[in-house]
Amino acid sequence: MTLDGVRLVVAGAGLRGLGYARRAAASGRASVVAVAEPDPVRRAQFATEFGIPPAMVFADWRDLAAAGRVGDAVVVATQDQMHAGPTVAFAELGYHILLEKPMATTEQDALRITAAVEKAGVIFGVCHVMRYTPYSSALKQMLDGGAIGRLVSVQHLEPIGWWHYAHSFVRGNWSNSNTSAPLLLTKSCHDIDWLIYLFGAAPTRVSSFGGLSHFRPDQRPAGATDTCLTCPVESTCPYSAPKLYLACLGDPDREFWPLSAVTADHTPAGVEAALRTGPYGRCVYTSANDVVDHQVVTMSFADGATCAFTLTAFTPLADRKTRLFGTHGYIDGDGRLLHHTDFRTGERRTIDTGTPAGHTAADGHNGGDVAITDAFLAAVAEDDPSLLPSDAASSLLSHRVVWAAERARTTGAVVDLPG
Ligand SMILES: NC(=O)c1ccc[n+]([C@@H]2O[C@H](COP(=O)([O-])OP(=O)(O)OC[C@H]3O[C@@H](n4cnc5c(N)ncnc54)[C@H](O)[C@@H]3O)[C@@H](O)[C@H]2O)c1
Repeated sequence: MTLDGVRLVVAGAGLRGLGYARRAAASGRASVVAVAEPDPVRRAQFATEFGIPPAMVFADWRDLAAAGRVGDAVVVATQDQMHAGPTVAFAELGYHILLEKPMATTEQDALRITAAVEKAGVIFGVCHVMRYTPYSSALKQMLDGGAIGRLVSVQHLEPIGWWHYAHSFVRGNWSNSNTSAPLLLTKSCHDIDWLIYLFGAAPTRVSSFGGLSHFRPDQRPAGATDTCLTCPVESTCPYSAPKLYLACLGDPDREFWPLSAVTADHTPAGVEAALRTGPYGRCVYTSANDVVDHQVVTMSFADGATCAFTLTAFTPLADRKTRLFGTHGYIDGDGRLLHHTDFRTGERRTIDTGTPAGHTAADGHNGGDVAITDAFLAAVAEDDPSLLPSDAASSLLSHRVVWAAERARTTGAVVDLPG
């Protein structure tokens, strides 16, 4: 630590790595002192933005690790299948670590990470940003304070949004379980972690159903071609890439996300060139995707409580919706407002949790991105891991539930988990 606060290092200066670095610098609690990023454009822009000297700019996290412990803490924001390698290496070097979700794509890697960070005794958090919003804190406080009595069941919906699903899970980085991971892990390890947080315990039994229903060749409209730019039915397709990406131009938030994933050239010609040659202009019916577009997970808890969770592509892009059914009350939450009915008095009230609008990565996940960055930096600065609401063991636990649910979906079994 220096007078400039936490010396922060970033491994993977993509959309997420850049976002955390910006928040850390803006918070006044940290200075960004080193980066590892193979993409030369991203690397140079990042180094310039944070004034990082050339000796501290690396093309690979391995080179950064080989330089030794050049900072106090590291953000690991590489892609999903590349989380365990850097996290274990940086833990061994004594870095405190903020790791993007999912913790890992396999249970074996998640175990390696847990063992490494526990052995090193470093502060560690997985970016379960949903835990950090004012909405989540208010809801958790109400549940723990007995506002609805004993929690008996929960109905939770993750409405991914039709174009967001097409962007990330048909054409984008999370479309194929071989190069990424199943949708329940990449999108909804957040939801499972959050539900466990609310219940205060992991489920003891899970089942799951779901599949890839629509984004497949047998659903392709007659006359459609392999890329939107040449497709005669593009104008009537809800998943038209030109319609989605050209409309981002001129809006700084949407240029950051989703457009930055498509191209760094934010001009009509640049977007069209990227759609012509890259994955984001592909027909959604003949892309390289295989992840499910709808899934339900049901969970049963040791005290008999139950939870039904749905994630689906076929919605507007919206905040998650949650209904919580208790013995003495009911809460209906939409990510910002909590509508509470108290069965003891019959009183109904709406609590505005003061949560910022905007649940996407473009607008910071309802304040979760800022809050997790601040909490992590505070935990490092004060050497107090209790400032983070979860640690390696609790993230491992929630990821294990995801893997169990995925096993349930693919085998048709009800999977038991240790109580
Ligand atoms: N917490 C959330 O809500 C949330 C939201 C979106 C994404 N994510 C997760 O964040 C992670 C990053 O996502 P993103 O959207 O920023 O992706 P991205 O592809 O924009 O960023 C990943 C970066 O890692 C870089 N990289 C690849 N190999 C590397 C290496 N050897 N060393 C260093 N860097 C390397 C890539 O070049 C890229 O710039 C993913 O795991 C993703 O699932 C989390």
